[in-house]
Amino acid sequence: MAREHAIAVIPGDGIGEEVINEGLKVLRALAQIYGFKLRTTSYPWGADHFLKTGVMMPDSALDEYRQHAAVYLGAIGDPRIEVGLLERAIIAGLRFKLDLYVNLRPIKLYDARFCPIKDKKPADVDMVVVRENTEDAYIGIGGHFKQGTQDEVAIATMLYTRKGCERAVRYAFELAKGRKRRKVTLVDKANAVRPQDLWTRTFAEVAKDYAGIETDHAYIDAACMWLVKNPESFDVCVMPNIFGDIFTDLGAMVQGGMGIAASGNLHPGKTSMFEPIHGSAPKYRGKNVANPLAAINAAGMMLDYLGEKEAATTLESAIASLLTSGRIRSLGAGDHPTSEIGDLVTAEVRQIAAMPAGEPAAARRS
Ligand code: IPM
Ligand code: MN
Repeated sequence: MAREHAIAVIPGDGIGEEVINEGLKVLRALAQIYGFKLRTTSYPWGADHFLKTGVMMPDSALDEYRQHAAVYLGAIGDPRIEVGLLERAIIAGLRFKLDLYVNLRPIKLYDARFCPIKDKKPADVDMVVVRENTEDAYIGIGGHFKQGTQDEVAIATMLYTRKGCERAVRYAFELAKGRKRRKVTLVDKANAVRPQDLWTRTFAEVAKDYAGIETDHAYIDAACMWLVKNPESFDVCVMPNIFGDIFTDLGAMVQGGMGIAASGNLHPGKTSMFEPIHGSAPKYRGKNVANPLAAINAAGMMLDYLGEKEAATTLESAIASLLTSGRIRSLGAGDHPTSEIGDLVTAEVRQIAAMPAGEPAAARRS
């Protein structure tokens, strides 16, 4: 019997639906090629649904997601709705309620022309950020006192648990085992925010279990500097939630922009969620100009997570080949119609899959 993967799809707001459609187009082609089945269930959550029904994302949906292997999400956010309301309910809601404790964000440069840093080549920009995803300033402990007055006080709590640090750090070390460089860099700000030395100590203890892995440390401010000055110094990086949020937007620019950056929100062994890093870009909605490569890349991460390694590798090669050969000219919006990029990737995966095994990668460039 064919392998079947159940995917809960949340296209969401703005360009979400368009980019997810391209991702699904590519996924269906790969399913056909590699002989697995996709069973998708679509959910309407987002601004339009909220304005119509008052519902953001019901808790009953979480039980339904748990019956799926993964959630594939487009984008959430709409200027008609209070800032952050839907993002917190849906994106953060998924991360917290499904306990998706790792936010995995690869930063990989496919072609030198996409890098804004002078003289950097693909070999210089190839890292993965392990962003802790269930703690820190995102927990929502805090609020306002005397709101709207001159005496207003606002409190936001950064919270870290030993368990939360350890599971993120351990994931990073396990990930490093399978990579060429085998290096893990801890990023924190324990010099100024002393409670963050929980990260420093946890990292040192976990490192003892991984003798063959090189370790390094950088404070977040310096890490941002190194990311621009010497991106080649990073392999796997692990860091608290809010630093990971900021660092990976910078990272997305270093790899060519929001048009390519993808992420996996993981709880290994359980239902996990895959999404592009970019937002809903309401101004591009319905115009067929958004670049769907980030969503397609997220689909690739999902395939890898689902154990469809061959399909994931083929997709990765297809994206690399289209970008290095210049058939996809840019990672920005408007240079290719959204649907054209989905079509190009679909054709390329078919072509790569049809090539005899062992064919050198260079021969794949048509
Ligand atoms: C991200 C986003 C989210 C975050 C927002 C939309 C809540 O910026 O996925 O990086 O801050 O984590
Ligand atoms: Mn972000």
